[in-house]
Amino acid sequence: MRVAPKPVQSFRDDFTYSNSDEAIERFPFPFVEDEYRYSVNIESHTPKGGTDSIYEHFIDIDEHYLSEMAERAIVLEENPRRCLSMGHMALAGWDFLERMMVSLSTDYPQYFSLRRDKDQWHWENTLLDIQQDFVFGDESTLPMSPLDYMGRQVQGDFALLDQRDNDLFMDAGMITCPADWSLAFDAGMSFSEWHGPVPMAHSAGIFDRALKYLTAIPIGSPARRLNWTLTVNARMDTSPEKYPDWGHERTTVTAENVAQKVYLRVELQIMDRMPRSNALLFVIRTYLISLEDIATNPEWAKRMHRAMKTLPQPLIDYKGLTRYHHLVVDYLAQFDR
Ligand code: HEM
Repeated sequence: MRVAPKPVQSFRDDFTYSNSDEAIERFPFPFVEDEYRYSVNIESHTPKGGTDSIYEHFIDIDEHYLSEMAERAIVLEENPRRCLSMGHMALAGWDFLERMMVSLSTDYPQYFSLRRDKDQWHWENTLLDIQQDFVFGDESTLPMSPLDYMGRQVQGDFALLDQRDNDLFMDAGMITCPADWSLAFDAGMSFSEWHGPVPMAHSAGIFDRALKYLTAIPIGSPARRLNWTLTVNARMDTSPEKYPDWGHERTTVTAENVAQKVYLRVELQIMDRMPRSNALLFVIRTYLISLEDIATNPEWAKRMHRAMKTLPQPLIDYKGLTRYHHLVVDYLAQFDR
């Protein structure tokens, strides 16, 4: 990891969240062409870009670790149902805990450590000052379910998909920073059902092809893709449950404040087969950057201007940009003369 976690900043109220120069430099800029269209943009989740890259490890722990864990604790305190698991997903919860403990302690030994003696495990997280002895597979030896316990210690949202009948079902997860969707609403849905609201992609066959790819992912060969949207203010929790808190903020963007107020929100999505349960783990690792910070990289600003200018209207509406999209295009135009 390049940048050590910094003191807690906020994703609500006074919005003190900020990116260091290093965080801007390693930001996963998602536009690879001048026009953005939905595609099956899946690749193998293998290391890329060296030690400064967000693709160095399975899970990227960065300078926002403490802030994101503090934000998650607030959301779960307000609404514990942001973490859900159906009865048949209990084993997948242990798979998830193991995957996270092993990869964090291997990739970031300065912060996390795991000792295993058969089923007797000892976990330490020095960033959150946590030490835990427990019996792997025995929930009574943890303060909460394994999904809840470990989800509170890893950056990113998590869904655990049960695989049956050549389909995936959203039967467990911890989702505290979604881009306008709800785990409680989607729980139990199939792959095409929870993707129901997405425009254009169904008829282009994207979801049929993506599902074939996902159901064939074997153990030990994770895949990844990037997705993006825009958000007003550095707000992580843009869930339907909290819409009254943030929906109206879309009307507050002006030509004067657009560079500071509008954030590009990029999701690094990782898909990994769980070994015991055969569930598919879906990680949504979210990165936020203001337009102002994007503009520090002239190539990004120019590319983003073109992608925004040519974005199809159904995507503008679906992503919730209708009210302020023109202000984003106007602001970015100065970097694309
Ligand atoms: C949007 C979940 C994999 C493409 C969404 C939404 C959810 C979701 C909950 C929001 C839908 C709404 O508006 O309510 C998942 C899960 C996946 C997965 C759990 C893993 C099993 C994929 C894959 C693709 C994909 C592999 C590849 C093509 C999309 C697209 C959108 C979307 C294009 C619209 C995003 C936007 O415009 O902001 N997904 N997805 N998803 N998903 Fe997936």
